[in-house]
Parts: sequence; structure tokens; C-alpha cells
Amino acid sequence: MPQQAIYYFDNNATTEVAPEVLEAMLPFFKQHWGNPSSAYSFGHRVAKDVEKARERVASLMNADPREIVFTSCGSESNNSAVHSALVTHPEKRHILTTAVEHSANIKFCDFLQKQGYAVTLLPVEPDGSLDLHLLEKSIRLDTAIVSVMWANNETGVLFPIEEVAAICRSKGVLCHTDAVQTPGKLKMDVKELGVDFLSLSAHKLHAPKGIGALYVKRRTKYQPLYRRRRPGTRPPRRHRKRALYRRIRPRRGTGCGTYH
Ligand SMILES: Cc1ncc(COP(=O)(O)O)c(C=O)c1O
Repeated sequence: MPQQAIYYFDNNATTEVAPEVLEAMLPFFKQHWGNPSSAYSFGHRVAKDVEKARERVASLMNADPREIVFTSCGSESNNSAVHSALVTHPEKRHILTTAVEHSANIKFCDFLQKQGYAVTLLPVEPDGSLDLHLLEKSIRLDTAIVSVMWANNETGVLFPIEEVAAICRSKGVLCHTDAVQTPGKLKMDVKELGVDFLSLSAHKLHAPKGIGALYVKRRTKYQPLYRRRRPGTRPPRRHRKRALYRRIRPRRGTGCGTYH
């Protein structure tokens, strides 16, 4: 039966894989499907391509490739940032976010609350905007991270992330932004923004589902959700050894490191 024509207008939900993306990916399904972390050349070859991809993602936001961690999706990137802030600052038990974040973030905050963490969900104004004065007042001495989305997936409202990050810096608190809806629509420059973490998701950008990225500003303590590094997720150890990437120094007890 012939397929009915579809008129699709929901690119905030997901996007069609672009033909050039499909073409670029096919060799990795057909020929170069080795594990980039393996000890033989069949895998190493893929590792080089993963690093090329890391450079491209970094250039999208004026970051350094060493600052890009690959994840499985935007939700994992968001949750990883919050999780990392909590485990690398165990004395801090409060998360400040907004009531209009993506449902995956709200659900993770619900979970954390049940584990004994304190969560503040800032309300928004009737026009969807954020009261920055209220945000500043809500930062506590034990706030581990402020997590505020950049562009809202339902209303399109933009939060002033540069200003949010400046408030966080003045209070010495980590700042994360969910920028999943931003690339291709707004200029993204992490140096101008001044955030510590920024999340992206490939399927909002005409790439396949199942790929995300987390920007982790250099020298920010970072502990991924998974103990075992999945192939290609973090900048590889051998590159770090080659002075391109300096070692992630483990902190005793936590197994966490600082990105240098
Ligand atoms: C603002 C925002 N954050 C996070 C996500 C989650 O991204 P993913 O589907 O890659 O987990 C979405 C997806 O709908 C989103 O719109």
C-alpha cells in the first residue's frame, strides 16, 4: 500500500535524519563498526572518527574538544550534569531549577528529592519568563547546581542564560543549561555564555536518536552517571596521554576527576 504523505511540523519533538547525515554514518554501520576502545587497528580507526565528531560538536559552541562528553541523549546529558554536581560536592544537597524544564529533568529531581535532596522548582511569570531576582534569592549556601533550560521546547521562551550564569558565578555555584532546543536557531558560544555544563541532543538536529553531548567546562569536576566509560563517550585516555589531553586526576574516595 502506498504511504500517505506526511506534513510534519514538530521539529522540536524530533527531526528527520538528513540525507547527508545518513550518508556520513553508513560506513560506520557497514564497514567501520569496531569498538573505538579496542586494542587493534579495526577499532582505533573508528576512534579517530569519533574524535573528528567531537571536534565538530565542540566547534558548534566554540568549546574545546576536551570539553565534550558524548552521551546517549539530551536527558542523559541533563541528568549527568546534576548528578555530577551532587557527587563531586557531597556537602551540597540542594538543586535549583525551574518548573518548566523538560520532563526527564523534573522526574530526576523528583527522584533526588525522594533520596533526601532538596529541590526548588522556580515558577515562571505568566509570559513564561524567569524572575532573575527570585532565582538569585533562591540560591542557598548548600546549592550544588542551578539548572535552567535555554529555549523551552513547548513555548519557545528563551531564558537569559548569560545572566543566569553570571549570577551563579557571583555565588560560586555551578550552572547548567539544557540547550537541546538551541542549535541551529541561536548562536551558541560557551565562552560568552559562561556556563559550566551544557546539554545537546542529536535528534533535534537532523541526526539519529540515541546520541547526546554534554559540554563540561575545563577544570570542572565531572563524574559521569556510568562507572564504566562507554566507547567514545569521554575524550580517550591515549589522547590525554599524548599531552593533547592531560590526565583526569582521580579524587580519593569519589573516583571523580577534573577536566584539564
Ligand atoms: C528542552 C529539551 N530537553 C531535553 C530533551 C530530551 O532530549 P532526548 O530526547 O535526547 O533525551 C528534549 C526532548 O524533547 C527537550 O526538548
